[in-house]
Amino acid sequence: MAISGKTAVYGIIADPIGHVRGPTIFNPLFEKLGMDAAMVPFHVGAASLSRAVAGFRAVESLKGWLVTNPHKFAMFHLCDQVDASGTRLQAVNVVRREADGRLIGGNYDGAGFVNGLRHDGIEPKGLDVLMLGAGGAAYAIAFALAEAGVRRLTIANRTRENAERLAAATRRFFAGFAVEVGEAAASSQDVVINTTSAGLKPEDPLPLDTSGLKQTTTVVDIIMNPEMTKLLTLAKERGCRIHLGRHMLDSQFPLLARHLGVPIS
Ligand code: ATR
Repeated sequence: MAISGKTAVYGIIADPIGHVRGPTIFNPLFEKLGMDAAMVPFHVGAASLSRAVAGFRAVESLKGWLVTNPHKFAMFHLCDQVDASGTRLQAVNVVRREADGRLIGGNYDGAGFVNGLRHDGIEPKGLDVLMLGAGGAAYAIAFALAEAGVRRLTIANRTRENAERLAAATRRFFAGFAVEVGEAAASSQDVVINTTSAGLKPEDPLPLDTSGLKQTTTVVDIIMNPEMTKLLTLAKERGCRIHLGRHMLDSQFPLLARHLGVPIS
């Protein structure tokens, strides 16, 4: 890939930034599509975000950027327009810069998760789902599952009031949707999803009481590293179908590309 004066520039903003996958996914994609474009990392700290974005608005060769931690919420307030999903979450994970400098935000975390299930042959419509956790990722996933038509969503969280708050927010956006707060215990659910950070470290507790786990339940963990969390290992041993954390991100890249105006099919 040769960068010239005509190259369209895309970025990814994060802090820390060393681990991000955007450039390694997008640059080969640009090459495959024959695009004269490059994605580069922008290491920006939280305190500098608004100054950096004010500068980005003025850069005419800059077409847009991916947004990751810790900037998703702050970036929402710096956009001129945001899609429905980003507006519900008050957070964006991608920004397209229009020719006049206007910033159009989107959030594809939830859609990426649901597409990841579908690409793995799991159609969420009509399923009974238990979701563990009520943090940022859980909000995106709960709203996307409601949109995808799951039959029932039970939310279990270490701090119950956070689960209550998420359930109330889900009801507010999706009137009539069956969402309740429950226990982190497996029974006859079709799918159990771990969105908590329990499982990142080997000493973490299991986020689920697995004593009632049935073979017919699909167990999902959104943790990407380690790929096989303790929860997934145990579920596999029990004969359950498992769905790995990387699907959420892998299935999200085409959606992010489309938002950025990259002409993929
Ligand atoms: P993210 O944005 O990645 O979802 P987060 O917003 O910090 O991260 O959310 C972390 C989630 O993991 C929360 O639901 C948290 O529970 P609390 O609301 O009680 O804090 C949950 N969590 C973190 N560590 C946990 C643990 N050891 N056991 C169970 N749940 C845990």
